[in-house]
Amino acid sequence: MIIIAVVILYLTLLSIGLFFSLYFPIRMISLLMSDHYGAPFVPLEEDIVSRMVDMAELKPGQKVYDLGSGDGRILFRATRSADVTACGYEIAIYPYILCRLRLWRNRTLRKGITVERKNFFHQDLSSAAVVFLYQQPKVLLKLRDKFLSELKPGTKVISARFAFDAWNPASTDRSLKYPIYLYLVPQQA
Ligand SMILES: C[S@@+](CC[C@H](N)C(=O)[O-])C[C@H]1O[C@@H](n2cnc3c(N)ncnc32)[C@H](O)[C@@H]1O
Repeated sequence: MIIIAVVILYLTLLSIGLFFSLYFPIRMISLLMSDHYGAPFVPLEEDIVSRMVDMAELKPGQKVYDLGSGDGRILFRATRSADVTACGYEIAIYPYILCRLRLWRNRTLRKGITVERKNFFHQDLSSAAVVFLYQQPKVLLKLRDKFLSELKPGTKVISARFAFDAWNPASTDRSLKYPIYLYLVPQQA
């Protein structure tokens, strides 16, 4: 009996030690990666996520992207609101693991969701009907040219908190903590 208790105690302490020795380095590396490639992992509040998805007016069969998908909350909300395919790109390990755990926990809800640990700057977004993002202005500046060359005219780009310079939103929602900007990709001249 005592031996079993000692073994359980030993394994518990080992797991706690392992958890902390991995948790902080993973969080630190993730922070550095997020900051290097774009915005750090700061998840959006659920009311903003819901409003963004409502503004997208999703239709069955559409493909949507979240660029820097964090723990996947936009992807889940989008697939709950319509029968769409939702694809997330996330560069940092920590939010990517959180998203994988969320997908695993919600096995029945994950239909239509894919998430890849990749840099969204290097992905082809041409099949998008809607692109969601919560990134810093310096990232939006770089993404604007990619969007104009890659996305079909009329594709919706929905940005939380930060606006694209010199690009007029089709509509703006200012009813929540952060503004949400909806853009329609213009026809190329
Ligand atoms: C502000 S968070 C937004 C998270 C999530 N979309 C949400 O709304 O809750 C930005 C995320 O983008 C990720 N990210 C930044 N640059 C990236 C890049 N170039 N490719 C993929 N992910 C990136 C970060 O790691 C971070 O998780």
